[in-house]
Amino acid sequence: MYKLDQTPLLFESSRPGRATAILPAADVPDRPLDDVIPRAHRAADSPALPELSELDVVRHYTNLSALNMAIDANFYPLGSCTMKYNPKRNERLAGLPGLGAQHPYQDDDTLQGLLAILYELQDDLAEIAGLHAVSLQPAAGAQGELTALLVAAAYFRDRGEKRTQVLVPDSSHGTNPASAHLAGFEAVTINSNGCGIVDLADFRAKLSDRTAVFMITNPNTVGLFDPQIGEISRLLHDCGAQLYLDGANMNAILGIVRPGDMGVDLMHYNPHKTFSGPHGGGGPGAGPIAVRDHLAPYLPAPLVGRHPDGTYFLDHDRPKTIGRVRAFFGNTGVLFRAYCYIRSQGPEGLKRVAQHAVLNANYLLTLIKDVYPVPFGTRCMHEFVASARTLAKDRGIRAMDIGKRLIDFNFHAPTVYFPLIVPEALMIEPTETESRETLDAFARALRQISTEDPEFLHNAPHTTPVSRLDEVKAAKTPVLKWQPE
Ligand SMILES: Cc1ncc(COP(=O)(O)O)c(C=O)c1O
Repeated sequence: MYKLDQTPLLFESSRPGRATAILPAADVPDRPLDDVIPRAHRAADSPALPELSELDVVRHYTNLSALNMAIDANFYPLGSCTMKYNPKRNERLAGLPGLGAQHPYQDDDTLQGLLAILYELQDDLAEIAGLHAVSLQPAAGAQGELTALLVAAAYFRDRGEKRTQVLVPDSSHGTNPASAHLAGFEAVTINSNGCGIVDLADFRAKLSDRTAVFMITNPNTVGLFDPQIGEISRLLHDCGAQLYLDGANMNAILGIVRPGDMGVDLMHYNPHKTFSGPHGGGGPGAGPIAVRDHLAPYLPAPLVGRHPDGTYFLDHDRPKTIGRVRAFFGNTGVLFRAYCYIRSQGPEGLKRVAQHAVLNANYLLTLIKDVYPVPFGTRCMHEFVASARTLAKDRGIRAMDIGKRLIDFNFHAPTVYFPLIVPEALMIEPTETESRETLDAFARALRQISTEDPEFLHNAPHTTPVSRLDEVKAAKTPVLKWQPE
């Protein structure tokens, strides 16, 4: 196996005169370097670049790339931060020159095909949401949250209402309270009840005429659908506030429930979790938002519009817009992939995606829950949160040890220690594309790990080029640059 610690760096393998290309002799006269670039503009020493053959370089990087865990090579059951398999056809279609090689400053009439796709995507996302208007601009789920809250703030400002608070469940993704704060609201935490869903009494107690928005994630981050959503929507609307859906978990309900029918006024999508989009890691991703008609005037401009003659245009004439949140039309490359995914699945296919995602998660839950208890719910939606609390208490085996040891079985770790309401959390989301054999193998690995020697687990993984890393040190004193000794 390729051993990282025994493999020299490119700099260390360098041999003077070894080259990747043999260039023809110059057919112009030599000139002293000082005549070309004056000394004052040059560093004292030329950079000591490594000198290697092409094959040395190819092998070096090919071997390094094989050290990565990747969805194309490994099962990747990350709850919440879902890594689902994205069909390759969507990559190919999104890269077609008619899409990938356009320039955003071209005139609208030379971009008709591209605008038609974005227009249809706006429509499709509105239909899936059961809402009325969509902005494709936000570049990530978190930016979608922020944009939607700015839209809600503009709506209340327009009505002369001073509402200062956004209510956020304690199980929510950390981006929810952060977005509320960034949008100028005070984030007020709503507790979960003993079943892992919104504590309605706490919600009632904190709801007031200062409430602007309640941000709910449904299904939530412990993988439960909150059946109180109708009651929550009624109470909230009676109070004049707006219901926001963090739509990151739409993979569980696609084509089965429309957020608009649950009373949702505004929401964001996470295309990387639901449709075929790469996860941006802060960008470039996409986080389109959908809103009910009374909020549509405030959406970021431009939207893509269609003239009565069927041609498409960028609609800048939106006097109440909150303005732009992203350059041009958003991250079109990611949006095209979402469009290809939606159109290639069709309505029935999208519904099957959700059904299989939920089936796979429940199958896995059933295989492991006697060893890794699931504190909330006996069934789940697309993901579930198991707990290693008993193993930690009885045998000193922590969620982190389990995650690290799974790497030895060629599985990526689940999300650990989130959400915070479950001690020693292992948040598992298998997604819809995994086979029964993969799920069985993963469950077998988890069960075996629970019986292993705790000392052995504390040092896992054992089969990787580097074993357990000091993650705190890596975060606090990272060494990001090679220095010659
Ligand atoms: C529930 C939930 N909300 C919000 C987000 C934020 O989305 P993004 O990472 O695209 O900013 C995520 C991330 O995947 C999420 O799982």
